[in-house]
Amino acid sequence: MFSAGWGFAREVLSGRCFRYNGAMSHLIVDERKCRRDGICVESCPVGIIELREEKAVPTPADGADALCISCGHCVAVCPYGAMSLDTMASEDCPPVQGEWALTPEQTEHFLRSRRSIRVYREEPVEKEKLRRLIEIARYAPSGHNAQPVQWLVVHDADEVNRMAGMAADWMRSVLKANPDMGRGMLLDRIIAARDAGKDTICRGAHHLVVTHGPEKDPVVPSACTIALAYLELAAPSLGLGACWAGYLHVAALQWPPLKEALALPEGHAFQGGMMVGYPKYRYKRFPLRKDPLITWGQPGEPL
Ligand SMILES: Cc1cc2nc3c(=O)[nH]c(=O)nc-3n(C[C@H](O)[C@H](O)[C@H](O)COP(=O)(O)O)c2cc1C
Repeated sequence: MFSAGWGFAREVLSGRCFRYNGAMSHLIVDERKCRRDGICVESCPVGIIELREEKAVPTPADGADALCISCGHCVAVCPYGAMSLDTMASEDCPPVQGEWALTPEQTEHFLRSRRSIRVYREEPVEKEKLRRLIEIARYAPSGHNAQPVQWLVVHDADEVNRMAGMAADWMRSVLKANPDMGRGMLLDRIIAARDAGKDTICRGAHHLVVTHGPEKDPVVPSACTIALAYLELAAPSLGLGACWAGYLHVAALQWPPLKEALALPEGHAFQGGMMVGYPKYRYKRFPLRKDPLITWGQPGEPL
């Protein structure tokens, strides 16, 4: 978690940092470092930083503290470390390692080599490693920088299997109530596999990572989905593999016993699940995918 350094607090208290109208503001400019270049003004997504005169120190606009989404762009974009928030001191924000930037070829390689991992080793993942994975995934974007994603880690493999069993119960109920739909979703095959001792719902993964958040918050679904996508991409860097648990997701929304077992906080909905474990195999080639369907200009006018 972020913690503003004491040195920074002393600077503010000693008056060497900018205070708006003599009062402590959420936005804090170090006048000695500020070059009055207006980069923070241009970069602020909410437009709450102003240069009241040419070459003036940037100042918060009226109501800035209430409008600020604490995205830290002003802090992160300033080349001189002159900008801070009262919750985000410039010196606490790690520098971007420009030389680590991936080339387009490396980026394509990285993204194309992500695979859904469905065969896992019989070896649990340490809690610390799963925590590290989530620590990376939490840097995913969210609407208004709300960062509403909450995480549930089902660490116990027996519990993951028990939940997969509950999802299978839901599948049986669908097949009974609506056999055509159930077969269309291949639920009969999943049940047959499960009855034969093979779990194709959670794929025998040791762990399950679930994202959730307040059901009524409109930014929650996209934030949770993107965060899990980050998690899947980050997994191989820690020697891990992951796979979206889509069937479990649908069951978790429909089947009361599974909802109960997940025990999410009141008012929270299951937004996505990811199986996680140590992969048994390595992929050696990139599978091919469809060409992108792109329309340039007016819809219906492909070039
Ligand atoms: C939302 C979503 C749900 C998915 N659910 C499952 C699932 O329940 N079981 C599974 O084995 N794979 C699941 N997958 C993985 C897809 O089958 C996989 O992404 C696709 O076949 C492409 O393979 P790749 O991810 O290795 O590129 C899901 C993927 C997504 C994006």
